[in-house]
Amino acid sequence: MGHLPVPRPFLKWAGGKTQLADALLERKPVRFNTYHEPFLGSGAIFFRLYRENQVRDAVLSDMNAELIDTYLAIRDHVAEVIDLLSGFPHSKEFYYEIRRTDPQKLSLPERAARMIYLNKTGYNGLYRVNQKGQFNVPFGRYQSPKYLDRENLLAVSQALQNVEILCTPFDTIVDRAKPGDWVYFDPPYVPISETANFTAYYPNGFGLRDQERLRDICIALSQNNVHIMVSNSDTAVVRSLYASPYFTIDEVLANRAINCKGARRIKVTELVITNYPLYRATQLQFLDQEYRSYLPNTDAATAPVSAACGLATGRPRQKRTPPQTRGEGKTDLA
Ligand SMILES: C[S@@+](CC[C@H](N)C(=O)[O-])C[C@H]1O[C@@H](n2cnc3c(N)ncnc32)[C@H](O)[C@@H]1O
Repeated sequence: MGHLPVPRPFLKWAGGKTQLADALLERKPVRFNTYHEPFLGSGAIFFRLYRENQVRDAVLSDMNAELIDTYLAIRDHVAEVIDLLSGFPHSKEFYYEIRRTDPQKLSLPERAARMIYLNKTGYNGLYRVNQKGQFNVPFGRYQSPKYLDRENLLAVSQALQNVEILCTPFDTIVDRAKPGDWVYFDPPYVPISETANFTAYYPNGFGLRDQERLRDICIALSQNNVHIMVSNSDTAVVRSLYASPYFTIDEVLANRAINCKGARRIKVTELVITNYPLYRATQLQFLDQEYRSYLPNTDAATAPVSAACGLATGRPRQKRTPPQTRGEGKTDLA
């Protein structure tokens, strides 16, 4: 494999969005102020935005305290984290020894080094805890896992320097996001099972009530002129949750493993929900790149696109003929 660009996700994470990043970024708003990612996981979309110099201010959050501590340690104590990881041997004995350690009794850098080591050497990069909150994933069968990636950790630390990192449930976003900001929500997905419609509690711990609360928050944010994007499974539940004039629902193709070993993969559609119009957003993105330098330096030139289109406000859409671009006649949306 060639040399991968840095910074990139430093953890393996269930539902990580590295593969879908192209499709999601094609659908981002043309302009936004602060970027928020309240279901952070491995942060695939944040790192991609950072690499492409498309993010200025960011607030990253998740409810998993060990995950957030790891981000904080890398941001503030990266040299210590690297130092600790470089002293860790790859062995089954050491894996179980460090797994037994209570993270609460460790310093922040020690907690982060433990988390990275367990994530990179444990079975399938799973994060799973028992009822007492103790990590219980077995040792993985990797020959030489790269749990110390010095170059990437340093780049991640650099990328996080001015980023606010919070351990908080997703619904606190309503107190933080301001008009013109962009929030990307990547919640645990609604399962693609036939009984999903009738299940209030999903096995991933994120139930129908949580999905409804998320949708309500998306409406509240839309009324406050905040751009939102949500990814979720292509299910009747998700389609009906977001069947509202506030939202545009779009399909994207994702490569999904069909068994836990990940050897066999199939293409499935997933949904991307936005509160701004995708056709116009992609057209304007093109215009933005081509003609930004010609725009006068006024408030109108820097205003959020949804405001320009009068959409997130619930105001009636203005009829406008889309400009002629290379993709004329196509939406560019797979
Ligand atoms: C699908 S993963 C996000 C994956 C991420 N986009 C990536 O690229 O790795 C969902 C994340 O939501 C977090 N989470 C679950 N319930 C939450 C809640 N109520 N509030 C905030 N975060 C939550 C989990 O800890 C997990 O990291």
